[in-house]
Amino acid sequence: MIIMKLRYLLFFNHFTFLLFFQTKAQKPGFKSFDCGGKDKFTDDLGLEWAPDQLMHGETANLSVTNETRKQYMTLRYFPADERKYCYTLDVKTRTRYLIRATFLYGNFDNNNVYPKFDISLGPTHWSTIVISDASTMEVQELIFLATSPTVSVCLSNATTGQPFISTLELRQFNGSVYYTDHESQFFLSVSARINFGADSEDPVRYPDDPFDRIWQSDTLRKANYLVDVAAGTEKVSTKMPIDVNTHERPPEKVMQTAVLGTKGSLTYRLNLDGFPGYGWAFSYFAEIEDFSPNETRKFRLFLPGTPDVSKAAVNIQENAQGKYRLYEPGFPNISLPFILNFGFRKTPDSSRGPLLNAMEINKYLKINDGSLDGTIMDRLVSRYPSSDWAQEGGDPCMPVPWSWVRCSLEPQPRIVSMNLSRKNLTGRIPLEVTNLPGLVELWFDGNSLTGPIPDFTGSKNLKIIHLENNQLAGNLPSSLTELQNLRELYLQNNLLSGSVPSRLLKTNLVFNYSGNSNLHKEGSGGNRMIIIVGSSVGIVVLLIATIASYLFIRRKKKRHTEDKCTGILPAQRMLSNLSDASAETMHCFALSDIEEATGKFERKIGSGGFGVVYYGRMKDGKEIAVKILTSNTYQGKREFSNEVSLLSRIHHRNLVQFLGYCQEEGKSILVYDYMHNGTLKEHLYGPLARERSISWIKRLEIAEDAAKVINSLETSAGKMRYYISQQLTDKSDVYSFGVILLELISGQEAISKESFGVNCRNIVQWAKLHVESGDIQGIIDPSLRNEFDIQSVWKIAEKAMMCVQSHGSIRPSISEVLKDIQDAIMIERGTEEARESKYGDLLVSTNSSTKLGSPEMGVTEPYVSFDESIPQPTAR
Ligand SMILES: *[C@@H]1O[C@H](CO)[C@@H](O)[C@H](O)[C@H]1NC(C)=O
Ligand SMILES: *[C@@H]1O[C@H](CO)[C@@H](O)[C@H](O)[C@H]1NC(C)=O
Ligand SMILES: *[C@@H]1O[C@H](CO)[C@@H](O)[C@H](O)[C@H]1NC(C)=O
Ligand SMILES: *[C@@H]1O[C@H](CO)[C@@H](O)[C@H](O)[C@H]1NC(C)=O
Ligand SMILES: *[C@@H]1O[C@H](CO)[C@@H](O)[C@H](O)[C@H]1NC(C)=O
Ligand SMILES: *[C@@H]1O[C@H](CO)[C@@H](O)[C@H](O)[C@H]1NC(C)=O
Ligand SMILES: *[C@@H]1O[C@H](CO)[C@@H](O)[C@H](O)[C@H]1NC(C)=O
Ligand SMILES: *[C@@H]1O[C@H](CO)[C@@H](O)[C@H](O)[C@H]1NC(C)=O
Ligand SMILES: *[C@@H]1O[C@H](CO)[C@@H](O)[C@H](O)[C@H]1NC(C)=O
Repeated sequence: MIIMKLRYLLFFNHFTFLLFFQTKAQKPGFKSFDCGGKDKFTDDLGLEWAPDQLMHGETANLSVTNETRKQYMTLRYFPADERKYCYTLDVKTRTRYLIRATFLYGNFDNNNVYPKFDISLGPTHWSTIVISDASTMEVQELIFLATSPTVSVCLSNATTGQPFISTLELRQFNGSVYYTDHESQFFLSVSARINFGADSEDPVRYPDDPFDRIWQSDTLRKANYLVDVAAGTEKVSTKMPIDVNTHERPPEKVMQTAVLGTKGSLTYRLNLDGFPGYGWAFSYFAEIEDFSPNETRKFRLFLPGTPDVSKAAVNIQENAQGKYRLYEPGFPNISLPFILNFGFRKTPDSSRGPLLNAMEINKYLKINDGSLDGTIMDRLVSRYPSSDWAQEGGDPCMPVPWSWVRCSLEPQPRIVSMNLSRKNLTGRIPLEVTNLPGLVELWFDGNSLTGPIPDFTGSKNLKIIHLENNQLAGNLPSSLTELQNLRELYLQNNLLSGSVPSRLLKTNLVFNYSGNSNLHKEGSGGNRMIIIVGSSVGIVVLLIATIASYLFIRRKKKRHTEDKCTGILPAQRMLSNLSDASAETMHCFALSDIEEATGKFERKIGSGGFGVVYYGRMKDGKEIAVKILTSNTYQGKREFSNEVSLLSRIHHRNLVQFLGYCQEEGKSILVYDYMHNGTLKEHLYGPLARERSISWIKRLEIAEDAAKVINSLETSAGKMRYYISQQLTDKSDVYSFGVILLELISGQEAISKESFGVNCRNIVQWAKLHVESGDIQGIIDPSLRNEFDIQSVWKIAEKAMMCVQSHGSIRPSISEVLKDIQDAIMIERGTEEARESKYGDLLVSTNSSTKLGSPEMGVTEPYVSFDESIPQPTAR
């Protein structure tokens, strides 16, 4: 309803046009790590391998192997203990990847004990690796959508032998390849990817497959692999080019071979690793056989126990609309057994038997969201880039916790204990530890921590706090007395001063504060602390009053039309009462004055979904913009007054000044300063936009300014006067702000039939459609010309989507939004520096745990959606 509100208010005084230098060469999105290797090298396929350089674990050579490829002849192994050992890999968020890990034991430890251990992707258990032969390589592949800038691959739970890994490979997909409707909740674990009619046992992969998927040959001799082959099964192949550029884009080479059921049927049986379960199963067909037009090829799929799948018949040529073209039918979600029998049989009216080029089956693997404290803990460990304990990687709790934390798993994983005793910590106590609601025990003793004791009340379950033997200074914060569960508090041997709050002494708390020479019991050392607290309260009150008058008290006394303006703006009056100002903090204009100033609404200067804007000039020469709200915009007085009071509280250099309102004769009118420089709107999508587009960083700064203003208003309002905060619980201003963020990203007006089409109509629905399918590029203002860091845009886009949730209660607070904007600015500034530095590419992480690779820019395409409520063959 008040979507448009802030838009008219935004403008900016000046802007700079930044030139960015694109220094990063476009990389193909492949990363290949030779675990335990020493040098970089390029293999026979043309793939570049790099040593893994992990600080944990040991490297070894294989002692038994018939393997000749260099990357498999070395490995890295880890102690068989309770810990997890993780690789952290840089990825591009909102991009799909194939990740492949291989394990070739080769009796590296000369023990001949075949290892068994677990591998996880972040907190999600990926697979249990069971080695059953020294020379047989285990391969695990997963397809996932990256949702954060890094992913971690961890080995843990050594059941027998020592966990080890031979290679780790990342392959980036593009477009909608492997898009699934539930990709934020499920990974796809690759179970079978088969090239039928292959001309050798060798798999097809890079460079034939641009994404380096491994397509196994159907002639491969492997236990329980493609047995029960029907009589009359023959191979067919072609050299003709095949159009494969849709959906999963199987390689042409795979599509150029196929098997034919010359006697009318094709049958196979194979073991599906990881099943039974729900999976994604698709077949790849292309008509590659020549036959005369009076002949037909039609066939049906048969799966024992699932008669429904046989209903639809395949006619490749018809379905693909021609020969040598891909047709990709399948099941986005189907329940499959471990031993899969399947067949294709020709229909009675078909003259030719079935044909099959390739198929692919992936199992859905439920994503584990990990610890609720994950983000905070990531921030905490990032403060200690050179400390061993901070480099363990992965989720703090899942699948096993870091060595220095303990977690509770119910109802959701949370950190309950943190032990950083004698870890040589310096600086202040990291504030992250004050924000862990599940934390019960905190051990920070025996470090060199300085600064004050923070307010721990965000970690309200704290029972035991060890801060002894540090160099902490300052007073004991009274917030310590608010920790209801506190039973033990150790503060001895620090540099604390002031007095000890008596409540800490009265409770049955185990409390040691000896060895702090300036710290006294209340009474013995005077009541200095009380005085300080008292005076700071005074200062705060003063400060709030000052802010209030700055923000709310209006410039000069204005003309006033009594009757029409009373009864409106209770909030405003409340504010002014409390800040001891007169009642007309918000000016109420007379309609007659407005009519005079605008020459009876003569000059229209703009219009939007919520009203038309007219130019006006007051008697004193002041230029104004007058917005007449369309009659149905505000259902009643209350909404309008809320609107006005909100507008009145927002004024800033990047915002157009709101002067007042008028509500007479059924008209609702808002009056603003007239801006000669143009509004933000005009700069974003008016004629000015074509001349000089606002850079992304400038847009972020505008958003930051606006968020700061709203935030400070809310905080001060929240503190002084509950009335306003009451009004804000629906977070309608957060919604409006989200809309503005979307406008900043896209350079689109909030409501526009032309831009969004009949299906969407407004920016929110339109952006939602794109953002949720991972297609951020689709909403980015083209005039930004790629001069931005996609991560920072994602951050804002995701926050904007949160802001425009339909229920106010689940929208974020404006302070959370502000934080994300500031993070995005930091990302963007970092990228700017890198762009400007010739050596931006060479910035190497100094982390002792390997941060592999670097994020790259890329494009994600819109998705293709399909109905998957029941197993139905679906053409992709
Ligand atoms: C592995 O073999 C290479 C050369 O064959 C040798 O330089 C290296 O030291 C060996 N590594 C280990 C851990 O034994
Ligand atoms: C190595 O030997 C194992 C079993 O002896 C076999 O399964 C595997 O295919 C062989 N690998 C190569 C590359 O020849
Ligand atoms: C470790 O592996 C064993 C056997 O594979 C399994 O039973 C156990 O649940 C695993 N433990 C954890 C913590 O995952
Ligand atoms: C996606 O990748 C394929 C294969 O590398 C390439 O041919 C195609 O142009 C890419 N598409 C986009 C949109 O980047
Ligand atoms: C199709 O036509 C060819 C001649 O063009 C003929 O030889 C063949 O028997 C016909 N096949 C069928 C199934 O009618
Ligand atoms: C697949 O279908 C089953 C049964 O309807 C459902 O429980 C499961 O969540 C679905 N999985 C995905 C990835 O859609
Ligand atoms: C904390 O960790 C240290 C090792 O860093 C260990 O000696 C100590 O026993 C641990 N304390 C607790 C309470 O677990
Ligand atoms: C402790 O930290 C200081 C400064 O960071 C460093 O110089 C010193 O070597 C560290 N000592 C230990 C035992 O890690
Ligand atoms: C308090 O700490 C000091 C210094 O570590 C110690 O000597 C003393 O015994 C402790 N007091 C109590 C009551 O535990």
